[in-house]
Amino acid sequence: MMKKQVLTGIKPTGRIHLGNYIGAIKPALRLAENVSYNTAYFVADYHGLTKVHDQHEMKELSYGVTAAWLALGLNPDRAIFYRQSDVPEIFELSWILACFAPKGIMNRAHAYKSMVEDNQNSGREADAGVNMGLFTYPILMAADILLFQTELVPVGKDQIQHVEIARDLAENFNKQYGETFVLPEYIIQEETSVLPGLDGRKMSKSYNNTIPLFEEPKKLQKLINKIKTDSSTPEEPKDTESSVIFSLYKEFATSDQVEEMRGRFQGGIGWGEAKKELFGVMNSFIEEPRSKYKELMANPHLLDSILQMGAIKAREKTIPFMKEIKRKIGI
Ligand code: TRP
Repeated sequence: MMKKQVLTGIKPTGRIHLGNYIGAIKPALRLAENVSYNTAYFVADYHGLTKVHDQHEMKELSYGVTAAWLALGLNPDRAIFYRQSDVPEIFELSWILACFAPKGIMNRAHAYKSMVEDNQNSGREADAGVNMGLFTYPILMAADILLFQTELVPVGKDQIQHVEIARDLAENFNKQYGETFVLPEYIIQEETSVLPGLDGRKMSKSYNNTIPLFEEPKKLQKLINKIKTDSSTPEEPKDTESSVIFSLYKEFATSDQVEEMRGRFQGGIGWGEAKKELFGVMNSFIEEPRSKYKELMANPHLLDSILQMGAIKAREKTIPFMKEIKRKIGI
């Protein structure tokens, strides 16, 4: 049986937070362990460049994403693990795909559209603060995906539209030149597809409401205490489904612990107590990866060499495929 190709990337625009872990890294790691898949995971540094314009920050954040994947258990001998900027074929393809991307689709892409709306609501010019990298972001992402003949893309809900755009561009190209690109599909974590942040909005670097995954215990506890809860008294039964505390607890506890906690929610548990329990399971889960993460961050040469090995493996696929693509377009 042919193995299915899985691919996903994380852009280095902030420290890895719980939303990244639960929405993307955790499901991706599960797929990496499954023998029926080939997996390719990468640090989307050129996507990060649409926002991060400081040399040191770019370096630090890229290493941060790399160390996070590895500390959480990604095995670079099994998955192809690389830095986007080390695989130049992605950029060649990005230009080619740009020539098959109707501008109207880019106008409708969520990230761009919401910036335009923000600008308009605050009386600025529609495109204020929008660089072309941001505008064409979905095209580069389509190149990431299509160059590896990706079938499945594990992503958070906010990235569904991007995967659909990749499909559209693949179809446009295939229509013209015959079957070339595989049409990718997304997979999302249904239950926790959009994780609420500290303020109840989606957990996102842009809202500054995240819980960094590798936070030190004291700080972690403080952040957990900040999670918004309702004003019910400890005795009142609490709804598990709508509770951020409960949905986070589920991610880190054993199934027995989850059932026990469900009972305590129904029977009445104070929010302070529930938060303490959440901190307990989270902290014991994260203890080991956190120290591994720190070790890796102190050894950037090791990170570089792992990524370079990954780029070599990636290019064994991308160089020949790029040749074929160029032949098809007559270049
Ligand atoms: N846009 C994704 C995000 O912000 C990151 C990303 C870049 C990506 N290229 C990708 C995800 C390709 C999946 C596949 O989360």
